[in-house]
Amino acid sequence: MVRSGLQAIILAAGSSSRFNTSKSKLCFPICGQELIVYPAKLLASLQIPLTCVVGFQKEAVKAALARHSLPNISFAEQLQPLGTGHALASAREHFFADTILVMNGDAPLITQEIVETLLDAHRDATASVSFVISQSTDPSADGYGRIVQQDGKIRVVESRNYTGNRHKDQYINAGIYLFQRTFLEKALATIHPDAKTGEMYITDLIQYASNTNEPIITSFAPFDNIRGINTLKELWAAEHIKRSELITHWMSQGVRFIAAQNVYLDLDVSIGADTTISPGCILVNGSSIGCGCTLGAYSYVCNSVLHDQVFMMSHSIISDSIVHEYAHIGPFAQIRSSTIGERAVVGNFVEVNRSKIGNQSKAKHLTYLGDARIGNSVNIGAGTITCNYDGIQKHITTIKDRAFIGSNNALVAPIIVGEGAMTGAGSVITDDVPADALAIARSRQTVKENFVEQMRARIVAEKETPHTTELGA
Ligand code: UD1
Ligand code: CA
Repeated sequence: MVRSGLQAIILAAGSSSRFNTSKSKLCFPICGQELIVYPAKLLASLQIPLTCVVGFQKEAVKAALARHSLPNISFAEQLQPLGTGHALASAREHFFADTILVMNGDAPLITQEIVETLLDAHRDATASVSFVISQSTDPSADGYGRIVQQDGKIRVVESRNYTGNRHKDQYINAGIYLFQRTFLEKALATIHPDAKTGEMYITDLIQYASNTNEPIITSFAPFDNIRGINTLKELWAAEHIKRSELITHWMSQGVRFIAAQNVYLDLDVSIGADTTISPGCILVNGSSIGCGCTLGAYSYVCNSVLHDQVFMMSHSIISDSIVHEYAHIGPFAQIRSSTIGERAVVGNFVEVNRSKIGNQSKAKHLTYLGDARIGNSVNIGAGTITCNYDGIQKHITTIKDRAFIGSNNALVAPIIVGEGAMTGAGSVITDDVPADALAIARSRQTVKENFVEQMRARIVAEKETPHTTELGA
């Protein structure tokens, strides 16, 4: 629903100091999507125009948002990270709507419902300030501002300044606020740097509203949804929650997870019904898995499409590829930037790179197929290697329908093996093979009768002959 008279500001300029990493925390992914993209997408889905306040690593933060081509975003810059109040003030020139929704950029689990409940409460109460509160009995959740109510007044006391009883003041500030613009513009001028940190806190606006008897309203949200991410530990905990949500969603769609607790799944992955996902699978980067597939233990699928009924055995890797129905992959196969046909087999210790393998073709063991164009019903013998690289350029190997490549062949590209042709085991194929021909390219076997027996007799005789030294016996 489009809400008129409303705009949103996301605070995303902080220095991420508690992450102790060189990268901004807002660019770390949770289930494959950067932290900052979560609130931005939520606001886009509510069709609320957004200004994002950037500063620390602003180009990286902007780039993360740009990758998702979200509509209606403008950027304000906070030149120094002087606190959340200062960040909001840095966006002042972007204020245009009567009501301004402000959100921390580091809260990826907030739902549409939380924002809508706040919007409704704010409107119903015609408040000047509304904000979301939560409750946590988790003692490690001590980075949150505590809601302190005293003498009919309400304020948020930042954790580092809080000296009261956490059991009494269990409510915490979630970091989502709604302000009437007229109030906000007046109030921003009143906030001062904190004595301990020198930062200006957005939360001081609440105290100012209370002290000046402005109407204030709060709405409640569950702690798991409002978690802010200040440390890598909190990132890990939030990702665990998000991933559990995804997995239970796919379970409800008929996907069987044998050990859901150690499967890794990105937000943009889809899985069809009747598919079984074994322990340790990693499915990422927009991959789409069809119906009735089996993914063996410790399989990795990245940016790939697996059509229905694909059978993937353990420890196999598929990236940037398409695998058609009933194909059989692995164990220990690696497929990159390739297309695998219907009912094809890419067996154990087979690597396929930038190649196309036709329907019902098989490379079952210990093979490298690079830059190969393989037709239908081709058999590739164990140990076959396409020699596709001459140190400067990559060359194409073409193997046409129904060809049969013997075991342990080296196919020196560029090369074409014609339809129905056959190559002898152990061949080094350097010239094209016409259709239906047999090519053998190896030295002929010679057999020396009784050679070994004579050799053994000679060695034994030499051993039995006594040796003399220069000094004599
Ligand atoms: C903030 C609240 C706290 C609340 C908690 C909820 C303040 C002072 N405290 O604390 O009451 O319980 O969120 O998660 O607001 N940012 C800037 N510029 C800055 C500093 C921060 O843009 O100078 C951005 C950060 O990038 C971040 C957001 O503001 O996205 C919140 O900042 P953060 O430092 O994480 O605030 P908290 O200490 O978590
Ligand atoms: Ca935070």
